[in-house]
Amino acid sequence: MKTELHFNKTIAIDKSMKEKIFIFDTTLRDGEQSPGASMNPAEKVRIATQLEKLGVDGIEAGFPAASEGDFEAVTQVAQKIKNAEVVALARATVNDIDRAWKAISHAAKPRIHTFLATSDIHMKYKLNMTREEVLQSAVDAVKYARKYTKNIEFSAEDGSRSDPDFLCNVFEAVIDAGAATVNLPDTVGYAIPEEFGNLVSYIMAHTSNIGKAVLSVHCHNDLGLATANTLAAIKAGARQAEVTINGIGERAGNTSLEEVVMSINTRPTYAAVTTGIQTPRIYSISRLVSMITGIMVQPNKAIVGANAFAHEAGIHQDGVLKNPMTYEIMRPETIGLTTNRMVMGKHSGKHALLSHLKNMGFDLSDEELRIVFKKFKALADKKKYVLDEDLEALVNQEVLRTADNFALTYLQVTSGTTVLPMATVKMLINGTEVVGTGSGNGPIDAAYNAIARLTGTQSHLMRFTISAITGGTDAQGEVTVRLKEKNIIALGRGTDPDIITASAYAYINGLNRLEYLKQNPPATVDAL
Ligand code: KIV
Ligand code: ZN
Repeated sequence: MKTELHFNKTIAIDKSMKEKIFIFDTTLRDGEQSPGASMNPAEKVRIATQLEKLGVDGIEAGFPAASEGDFEAVTQVAQKIKNAEVVALARATVNDIDRAWKAISHAAKPRIHTFLATSDIHMKYKLNMTREEVLQSAVDAVKYARKYTKNIEFSAEDGSRSDPDFLCNVFEAVIDAGAATVNLPDTVGYAIPEEFGNLVSYIMAHTSNIGKAVLSVHCHNDLGLATANTLAAIKAGARQAEVTINGIGERAGNTSLEEVVMSINTRPTYAAVTTGIQTPRIYSISRLVSMITGIMVQPNKAIVGANAFAHEAGIHQDGVLKNPMTYEIMRPETIGLTTNRMVMGKHSGKHALLSHLKNMGFDLSDEELRIVFKKFKALADKKKYVLDEDLEALVNQEVLRTADNFALTYLQVTSGTTVLPMATVKMLINGTEVVGTGSGNGPIDAAYNAIARLTGTQSHLMRFTISAITGGTDAQGEVTVRLKEKNIIALGRGTDPDIITASAYAYINGLNRLEYLKQNPPATVDAL
């Protein structure tokens, strides 16, 4: 029997009495449906590798029928991952299921995830199908998928707005057909915790064969209730939670992995469950996902936001110094946020850098380390202390980014109160060096005009943000841009001690992502 300290009360926790729930991560599939967050195969493999180390039980790697690029990404993730299940999404059609299986058949633990909407509104207006037809198609899809594997998940899309009795009938039929997991999605983020928990209890009580399957939930955050709904569902008997890192996903996002896991750990008496998540890895994977997708974590985001453990008010600081439990319900170390960060400087060697990057969750190849070390030395010449945030930005810029068609090799700008801002830019475009100039109403505008002309691109700059990634006047500037071309949106990020250079890097990163997306259009589950 283990005891844990909660608010100075010692509570006896018998972990053996707790059921382990299945953490199903869908960062690479539903998370990727966040506007502009598309990832290429190498980026997905990199995140999947860290998800496996984090201890998730399943990794939904993508939607193979959606595009060649996603098929390739799922295939590569399936080749790499050994301990977690690798899941491929498929509509309830023969073609989708065949594509899904083709992408994951060589995985150590493959799972096919097929879905069909069960709410009256979706069946009538989207599918144009009757209840009988939907039930039959769901059963047929599961039976067809069974020819490949026993590990099949069926999702009743828009489940939270479906007639509960029809939902139970569908779940009963697909379990009879061989589904091992049945998933209840709150697709449009409409549910309220008490009501959602009651729906889970209802399903548990009225689906005669539910004991033969795992009941899962998949919540969206349109009302900011995804985590609360997921926890209510777990308390009511759900044993799989579908989540994403940082809660990224379609529209307002999905349930956030870190919020569910830390709620379960911080409130061990709420539900008799546990997870296999290595919580000290949470912070580094949150940063990795943010860097790769270009989606920043809001500062006040629970668990992983920059302010989540920052105590501003004097009275709080005083209390925390006397006893952290006065104002801190979790210790920052439990999510891997260390206060005694090692500061790297220009005398730090390659080995020190490698081991520090490993601690931060980056496993770099020799070649990647060589590139990062060179840039690190250059940065350390300009900046006295190189902090973790600087290193993250550097790794992101030099090795994590999408394969580049366009690269910046030289930038010079002139600007001031009385001159027309001008930029001279040299770039590699698919390996060939080109040079050009541009003018604009400021130095960044001038550089962007030169880059647009050189690359022959027509994107529209929808958003531009700039911030300092650490404190101090020698801090690096971090620029994020959101670009749009036709209906495709891409995010780009760039960092450099010089903010004009950081802006150019961000723009070029966004253009590279747009190029990738033009070849591999992002697909949402309903847009196909
Ligand atoms: O939100 C949803 O309904 C989905 C399903 C495909 C599970 O993402
Ligand atoms: Zn979803």
